[in-house]
Amino acid sequence: MFSNLMAWIEQRLPLMDAMNKHAAQYPAPKNFNFWYVFGILASVVLVNQLLTGIWLTMNYEPSGEGAFASVEYIMRDVDYGWLLRYMHSTGASAFFIVVYLHMFRGMMYGSYQKPRELLWLFGMLIFLVLMAEAFMGYLLPWGNMSYWGAQVIISIFGAIPIIGDDLTLWIRGDYVISGATLNRFFALHVIALPLVLVVLVFLHILALHEVGSNNPDGTDIKKPKGSVAPEEQSKFTFHEQYTKKYDIVDAIPFHPYYTVKDLVAVVIFLILFCAVMFFAPEGGGYFIEAPNFEPANGLKTPEHIAPVWYFGPFYTILRIVPDKLLGAIAMFGAIVALFMLPWCDRGVVKSLRYRCTAHTVNLIQFAICFIILGILGTLPATPLNNMIGTIATFGYFGFFVAIWIYSKNEKTKPVPERVTG
Ligand code: HEM
Repeated sequence: MFSNLMAWIEQRLPLMDAMNKHAAQYPAPKNFNFWYVFGILASVVLVNQLLTGIWLTMNYEPSGEGAFASVEYIMRDVDYGWLLRYMHSTGASAFFIVVYLHMFRGMMYGSYQKPRELLWLFGMLIFLVLMAEAFMGYLLPWGNMSYWGAQVIISIFGAIPIIGDDLTLWIRGDYVISGATLNRFFALHVIALPLVLVVLVFLHILALHEVGSNNPDGTDIKKPKGSVAPEEQSKFTFHEQYTKKYDIVDAIPFHPYYTVKDLVAVVIFLILFCAVMFFAPEGGGYFIEAPNFEPANGLKTPEHIAPVWYFGPFYTILRIVPDKLLGAIAMFGAIVALFMLPWCDRGVVKSLRYRCTAHTVNLIQFAICFIILGILGTLPATPLNNMIGTIATFGYFGFFVAIWIYSKNEKTKPVPERVTG
């Protein structure tokens, strides 16, 4: 009975076929390492955010009068409300930790290079929407840092010549940040942006599975049909589409090999996640900032306005440029540069294992500058901090300029035909 029903469905909607192609029998390079777990972890966090978000919405009140009190109500009176809220707020920071590591992996192994440019672009769009999602979510508790953080960020748009003032008015829906702003941010945060995010993640995975995964060696596991002797090819049964089009070498099916490996990563991640959530949900003032325990007050500016840590690098770039418009351009430029990475890098060798030493040095200095910019974003803008921030900003943009220069005639090491390890 059951198998007949499944066959009936399959003929009309090939669900098992899609499952096999995109999960169970997806041919994954056999040398994936630790860095390859972050895509799955990002998916886990995404589901956590969507589910806890839905339940928070059931008791949250999106109005200037009621928002702060409704969050207090969730924390104190709603059954397990505190747990839902901390899962959501810790999840926001976890999302960025995981996504930053996921992006860095892509940079190390050249996963943005041909033929994965579109995959990278979808990733960057996800990152952009994720930042907008986090920014709007942060206004919702209607704490004092929510209010002033939004004030600072929205005012950036005011620096745009001619349309700036009208644009900020349009975004806020009022002359100041008010209940009207909160209302529209709520609508965007709970429905519009999550929808876009889910669609983009879907496209991200589709684009990945069309071209296949990269790996720490940056070698291609898909060889032209007929170019590899049958005994050399991967012995597993992979989805027909792959084996029909290519000879596949050094691959193993995603299930059970990587489902099991990823499960280990998910368990370790959840242990760390729970440790933060249960013992330090405020993340030392970095995940939930102290001024946010006071209601929004347009007459009381917090002593030191700082965005949540994950906006730190971009906020520092904005702040070190004395001119507001130029600062905004530099900040958006920092994101645009990441979008353009597949074209800044003119090299053909993907993995840093086989690239020139300058590339390794460049990537390490980029990572250090990014972390420094992030730390500075949470600290006051003293002259010393601004000086360090300026140097780190040069390091950040220098990465893209340098890679463009040396990647043209790069002296690389020989890349193995087949994956190592
Ligand atoms: C919600 C956020 C995201 C989710 C759920 C997600 C999910 C995934 C998954 C499941 C994979 C395959 C497993 C893996 O390679 O780790 C993957 C691969 C990849 N992702 Fe993402 N991703 C997200 C954001 C991003 C961002 C922001 C970027 C970069 C701009 C990015 C770039 C890539 C690249 C280049 C690959 C292929 C890596 C390779 O084959 O070497 N992703 N992503």
